[in-house]
Amino acid sequence: MSLFRRTRVAVLALLGTTVVLASSWTVPGRGQTVLAPSQAASEVTRNAVQATAAPAGKPRDRPASVAAIAARLGIAEGSAVADIGAGKGQDTWAFARIVGESGTVYAEEITETFVKSLQAEAEKRKLPQVRPVLGRSDDPGLPHEAVDLAYMRYVYHHLAKPREILRGIWRALKPGGYFVVIDRHPGTLRDWVPREQREEKHFWLAETTVVREAREEGFSFVGCAEDCCESADPFVLVFQRPRGLREPGRDPDAPSPLAASEVLQQLLPQNGRYQRPVFIALGEARGLMAPILEQSSGQGAEIVLEEWATQKDERPPLLEGLLLPSVLTERGDPRLGPEPIDAVFFLDSYHLLFHADTLLAKLHEKLAAGGWVFVLDREAKRPLSRREASHQRQIDPQVVRREMAAAGFRLRNEGRRPAPDRFFLVFGKSDCEVDGGTE
Ligand SMILES: C[S@@+](CC[C@H](N)C(=O)[O-])C[C@H]1O[C@@H](n2cnc3c(N)ncnc32)[C@H](O)[C@@H]1O
Repeated sequence: MSLFRRTRVAVLALLGTTVVLASSWTVPGRGQTVLAPSQAASEVTRNAVQATAAPAGKPRDRPASVAAIAARLGIAEGSAVADIGAGKGQDTWAFARIVGESGTVYAEEITETFVKSLQAEAEKRKLPQVRPVLGRSDDPGLPHEAVDLAYMRYVYHHLAKPREILRGIWRALKPGGYFVVIDRHPGTLRDWVPREQREEKHFWLAETTVVREAREEGFSFVGCAEDCCESADPFVLVFQRPRGLREPGRDPDAPSPLAASEVLQQLLPQNGRYQRPVFIALGEARGLMAPILEQSSGQGAEIVLEEWATQKDERPPLLEGLLLPSVLTERGDPRLGPEPIDAVFFLDSYHLLFHADTLLAKLHEKLAAGGWVFVLDREAKRPLSRREASHQRQIDPQVVRREMAAAGFRLRNEGRRPAPDRFFLVFGKSDCEVDGGTE
């Protein structure tokens, strides 16, 4: 029985007759139709279920791990693989065996001595399918639309110019081709090191950084696949170049447009003004900040999530002319000043949280009695783990309700949907009576 089959049987046994049975997992092979961006979510859910359930048998070594990833993604004899930052080729030789002489393994490196030794070793091992490639910090130097799988193990955290490399990889992939990143650390960023220092010195990165950059450069997030890795330490993320897109450079799975005036009717206070609104807002929803601030008497603040930021001083762009102080969370703590706040706006951002417990506890502490928490977000149609919800940029509203209730908030209102893919929930403090304000 193949690894995939064993894993699936184990998952089914674990989960009984849930959604997993209804959505049988198919392994896309070469040339097989893979996901359009809009289909990515369903594929991810299947991956998520597999990846989060206990694997039937974790690969015992690196070649077994490479074999498991290849099998999961339909990489087989005749496939083309790019081992990016191949180093001494530990995984290159394993891929070479899988794709055979009818396939190709581009063993790419920016270190010239590695390229030379990869060439010598490929000749010694009699592996003509291995083609060493000398890349640059800003260009992997791969042929366009030539690769079924681009693979990067313990390299992403070294990238000085990740955006340029991602675009090069996107172009090197055939439409529908996969991109796998194995790296550390799972979770959010801890080493806030400037990018240019990463190439030479070793600092771990975070999975949230990889997902954000890959999505923004045009990859669909497919799922997590730690069960394919022999080591317990890293994260294993699978992305895909969507079919149908000709150019990289934008998230292929962005939320649908918001009807701003419709949303504002629900967000603006019906009586009086907000005194100190706090925003955790991303994407198009940031356009809602200015009209809310116009209806506020005091200065607001912005919380920048560490789940989003890739550099310490990074902040989503503000509308021109808008001045708003910001704080970056640290393990979920927004380190807000002493002043109480009276409204919190999670606008297309709640799904990202890895440190929801701490952030919600701190917001609860600071929120005035009678204050409000608004959550507008993209709705996940299937159960996703918290981690998958973050990477998928969508969340089950039941999870939001549960987490908010655990933090001491009570649902006051379930608002009208501001877009077909969004939900809208309004919370107050559990221990406060409703004052008739927004309800
Ligand atoms: C920790 S080693 C990992 C090697 C190999 N992937 C492995 O897991 O055994 C990181 C490698 O990434 C290479 N590297 C760093 N920046 C790179 C870039 N922009 N493009 C390609 N390779 C890069 C380094 O030369 C080094 O060989």
